[in-house]
Amino acid sequence: MTPSRTASNECVRAAYEQFTELLAQGDGTFIEEGPAILQDAIETDGFFDGVETERAEDTYTRRLIHHEPDGPVIRFMEWPPEYALLPHEHHGRPCFEVLVDGQLFVADMEAEISADNEYELNVVESTVCNPSDAGIVDPRTGSDIHAVYSPVRTRSLHVYPDDNHYGIGYVPSDEPNDLYRKERFQLRE
Ligand SMILES: [Fe+2]
Repeated sequence: MTPSRTASNECVRAAYEQFTELLAQGDGTFIEEGPAILQDAIETDGFFDGVETERAEDTYTRRLIHHEPDGPVIRFMEWPPEYALLPHEHHGRPCFEVLVDGQLFVADMEAEISADNEYELNVVESTVCNPSDAGIVDPRTGSDIHAVYSPVRTRSLHVYPDDNHYGIGYVPSDEPNDLYRKERFQLRE
């Protein structure tokens, strides 16, 4: 039995099964081989049957597409035009995404602690993601802090090894010193 919120079809479930198999071989295999499977899957006729995002207005939305107990999770996100997501990090395990349409700017950052819970953030790399481009976030290797900007309405599919409901955000500090403080935040849904 899958949860009733799940909006999957045969194509989605076929891809999901492959993600489950990859995950059984470890997180490394999961993020190395998962993105190509998702890129192929979204080109398959029928993949998007019944698979929709929730309309994003003021902030992003993330809809559950498929999840089975103790298995990976597929979510479909929509980003409104001219939306900036503050720097944040995921916790624990790596994940990947493939852009369906629109465009995302992703800035990878490094944090330097300058005082008790005050961090200086520096951009180390920035990437532009276009439709069918894949991206991975791997907290196991170095810094996984990133900020995201969507210049236009954008949709992206995300695959996580487990279902998490919080992230760690970097919020501009109250002092006018360009520093950030870390805060745990709740993910939507
Ligand atoms: Fe993220």
